[in-house]
Amino acid sequence: ESGLITLDKGFKNTGSTTSDITFLDGEKGILKHRGYSIEDLAENSSYLEVAYLLIYGELPTQEEFSNFKAGIKENQLVHEEIKTILSGFPSKAHPMGVLSSLATSLTAFYPESLDPNRSKNKVNLTILRLLAKIPTFVSWSYTKRMGLPHNYPDNSLDYVPNFLKMMFSVPTEQYEIDPVVVDALQKLLILHADHEQNCSTSTVRIVGSSQASLYASIASGVSALWGPLHGGANQAVIQMLESIKADGGDVNKYVQKAKDKDDPFRLMGFGHRVYKNFDPRARIIKKNADEILSRLGIEDPVLEIAKKLEEVALKDDYFVERKLFPNVDFYSGIIFRAIGIPTEMFTVMFSIGRLPGWIAQWKEMREHKEPIGRPRQIYTGNPERPYIPIEER
Ligand code: SDX
Repeated sequence: ESGLITLDKGFKNTGSTTSDITFLDGEKGILKHRGYSIEDLAENSSYLEVAYLLIYGELPTQEEFSNFKAGIKENQLVHEEIKTILSGFPSKAHPMGVLSSLATSLTAFYPESLDPNRSKNKVNLTILRLLAKIPTFVSWSYTKRMGLPHNYPDNSLDYVPNFLKMMFSVPTEQYEIDPVVVDALQKLLILHADHEQNCSTSTVRIVGSSQASLYASIASGVSALWGPLHGGANQAVIQMLESIKADGGDVNKYVQKAKDKDDPFRLMGFGHRVYKNFDPRARIIKKNADEILSRLGIEDPVLEIAKKLEEVALKDDYFVERKLFPNVDFYSGIIFRAIGIPTEMFTVMFSIGRLPGWIAQWKEMREHKEPIGRPRQIYTGNPERPYIPIEER
């Protein structure tokens, strides 16, 4: 075929689509969803309201929001066969692998989700079911890992308190909802909600562009987010901070290691493809970390190590020249840990946060009838050569 192919590995300078959902300014560290700043939303909104805004384009009226919340409550129960699927996983299965499989399993329970031409109402029901069932999937995969009984959704509670109760309540005790924990988790989920065409969202879009179901597309987004360079970084940050702590807290040594090109070690939670300034989400999370830990009466030594690491790195030429700042994953794990989320589930929490963004981007791509994603390449392999029978090789 004729026509020049421009190679752009990692799509560093490629725009893959047009979108009305999220605006990023990497130089100024600006993030907006449908025109509302992330600071405003984190301060005033709730995770479900931001989910509605991302997916449907406007902040909901009272009536729209109560219908949306009612729809979620009607769909929070999962088919009892989910327990059979869960029991099939090895006990050490990573929660991201479990989540990806459970998301895909929804196509079995709701085969109409496979019909790319189904009505708008059916698409909205497909979306509601996913938003409603993910907290149940996540909490059941946690209680399975812990060998504890599964908790059913409690429709007398709002979304975030219900999730916390399903995660942490046990049948033998009264479960107290802690408003500090609820508020902290609301904010964290809002801060993870969408981020334009990042790796996992681009994955959701390209899988959806083949007319694969929303559930299969989201499952692929979970897999992309899992990687330590992307959403897996929040787990890697805590593991890094723990090893610095175990190593006497010598942050300088790790900053030097991160600069050494012969050492594969990177400062996890630092750097970003778009932000060449402080990630506005990291700024909000850092501010909240202090407040939440003191309101919960928790002294977490890794918070001090994180702050020291940030201070040393932001003064170091290597990081300054490359404009490497803390990103959303740098402080988030400290709060997830403070509210009782186990380290191996930090990236699952990122998935819950990002779910409305993935859904909104998938829906926009399908409504815009975007073509199937099929990039080209520059061939660098062997020129033509004749087949050689095995006895002559
Ligand atoms: C997320 O895209 C999104 O929006 C993602 C996200 C979202 O909300 O969806 O924001 C969520 O994934 C945040 C990023 C989480 N990942 C990490 O914290 C892992 C550590 N960070 C790096 O791996 C890296 O910074 C990336 C992956 C985030 C960005 O990679 P790029 O844009 O491909 O940059 P690069 O790897 O080409 O680095 C440029 C230079 C290189 O040095 P030189 O070759 O120029 O000498 O900066 C260096 C890199 O070696 N560098 C780092 C570094 N990050 C970049 N050096 C040490 N430590 C780091 N963390």
